[in-house]
Amino acid sequence: MKRTHTCGELGKKEDKKEVTLQGWVDVRRDHGGLIFIDLRDRYGITQIVLDPKSKGFEGAEHLRREDCIQVTGKVRLRPQGMANPKMKTGEIEVYISQQLVILNKAETPPIEIDDNKIANEEVRMKYRFLDLRRPTMQQRLVLRHKVSQIVRNYLSSHNFVEVETPLLMKATPEGARDYLVPSRVHPGKFYALPQSPQLYKQLLMVAGMDRYFQMAKCLRDEDLRADRQPEFTQIDVEMSFIEEKDIQDMMEGLIKECFSAIGTNVKLPFPRMSYAEAMDKYGSDKPDIRFGLELVNVADIAKNSNFEVFTKALQSGGQVKCINAKGCASFSRKDIEELTEFVAIYKAKGLAWAKVNEQGKLESSITKFFPEKVQADLMKKMDAKKGDLLLFVADHKHFTVNDALGNLRLKLAEKLNLINKDEFRFIWIVDFPLVEFDEDLQRHVAVHHPFTSPKDEDIGLLDKEPVKVRAKAYDLTLNGVEIGGGSIRIHKRELQEKMFRVLGITKEEAERKFGFLLDAFRYGAPPHGGLAFGFDRLIAIMAKVPGNDIREVIAFPKNKAAEGPMDGCPSDVPPEQLKELNIKSDIPKKEHK
Ligand code: AMO
Ligand code: AMP
Repeated sequence: MKRTHTCGELGKKEDKKEVTLQGWVDVRRDHGGLIFIDLRDRYGITQIVLDPKSKGFEGAEHLRREDCIQVTGKVRLRPQGMANPKMKTGEIEVYISQQLVILNKAETPPIEIDDNKIANEEVRMKYRFLDLRRPTMQQRLVLRHKVSQIVRNYLSSHNFVEVETPLLMKATPEGARDYLVPSRVHPGKFYALPQSPQLYKQLLMVAGMDRYFQMAKCLRDEDLRADRQPEFTQIDVEMSFIEEKDIQDMMEGLIKECFSAIGTNVKLPFPRMSYAEAMDKYGSDKPDIRFGLELVNVADIAKNSNFEVFTKALQSGGQVKCINAKGCASFSRKDIEELTEFVAIYKAKGLAWAKVNEQGKLESSITKFFPEKVQADLMKKMDAKKGDLLLFVADHKHFTVNDALGNLRLKLAEKLNLINKDEFRFIWIVDFPLVEFDEDLQRHVAVHHPFTSPKDEDIGLLDKEPVKVRAKAYDLTLNGVEIGGGSIRIHKRELQEKMFRVLGITKEEAERKFGFLLDAFRYGAPPHGGLAFGFDRLIAIMAKVPGNDIREVIAFPKNKAAEGPMDGCPSDVPPEQLKELNIKSDIPKKEHK
């Protein structure tokens, strides 16, 4: 190897040493007779100096940003007062006595390799190989690598075995659309790409593997958001002979190890909260508990008011909830209008409000509908003090009240700067409902997936009131993000068949889709359960990526339209290739390039 050091390691102790470095020109400065180059590689930046006596001085005069070069020279201490304490290599520079070789010239790059000048999304993705030269991006990829090593070591040390499962498979339902791959050998038939290795990991438990994990690629054709990619990575885990707490404890240990990579000492155990309580207090099953602003159900008080918006919602089986925005009585009419528009996104029909004035009394256009006693009860329940602002949503749908106020809570926290960005607050959400009724499909659907076990004590309700059945399911949430989810599975054929019936899946359909799983359950399937973490989400939070955008921690992500702007996928394919796959398209084709 020609290079003796990287650009991030030279210091005082290498003074007078002859070294060879290779890297990219970050900046070149001409100081009349002296040329300074900031030479950059993955490890850092080293200052290079040339004067007219240096070999290669002429070449250096023409160097441009991102040229790839090699230099050989002597380390020397920077003159007094010129040291840069902010740089790892800030005490020294390398004086080029020997050689400067241009390994490769660079054209003017379409984006700057500068963390302070970030280009727009589309250009960054098109020139991802340049975007990834930025130190921040490199640190994120290195962190991702470190954490994946920790995961592998931790799980291996606890007897887990990493097993690869197929990418070409039969569809597994995780609730999203499948990506399909046509079979050439079997005209008209398709493989599905895995939405997760769910069924395979369960089959590995039947196979006696006992403890499985995989850094698994999952593919889901769904609408994309900042925390969703069509292709993402899970830390996928399954264990035999366990109960909910066993896997939760094991995963807490894993998370603690992961966070050691960023020097954070995570305190165990994580708190647990039931789904019902999370929805009640936070209007969300992934509550951000770094701040208060909890939702309070005020139905018992609102029903005594004469405000029809509230009373009618309650009479139709609905709900009225309230948030006390502490100290926000100073909000202007415009502020409140903005918040009203915001809750409308979540289908709230309005946002009622009341301020606590200087006299400690409620003040608003709706107070006239609230008798003295009702006002006093409300203030007591909401712990409303001078300067506070009460915000209400009423609706006949509980979901709308929770969704609107749950999101308003997040919006207010941001507006009021209540979130400590350096804090990591984990919470297990447990006791999810097993199924919910889907209005569009007009049938019950699994809240987690169809293989999740009901709580033993609720099995009796499966036939009569399935929505009341709680599941042995759990999510781990961190700072308001669902970073992982799992469940104890059904391991008996009869119960699995019953679950399919509840979900309106016929015997034939179940046999066709999951016959192999039901078959496997005939041969002494052990009790088992597991969990999968969204690895990208975990890293995005650990790396403190703004908005937790997971594209920032994926080397080559897709854009919002599920395209790869760099390689140009998805793309047309030549007609011969389609013919071979027995695929005819009725979409008018442009000329194939
Ligand atoms: P689930 O569907 O909840 O469970 O997925 C597990 C975790 O994966 C992450 N995740 C995603 N991350 C990025 N982009 C996406 N499109 C995406 N979808 C999900 C989330 C989520 O918590 N087989 C089950 C796990 C199990 O039961 O063991 C499963 O896949 O962080
Ligand atoms: P209105 O009677 O429509 O003028 O509304 C009076 C106040 O009640 C306004 O501040 C509305 O934003 C609010 N409001 C209307 N509908 C709702 C609702 N469903 N929940 C909460 N507030 C509402």
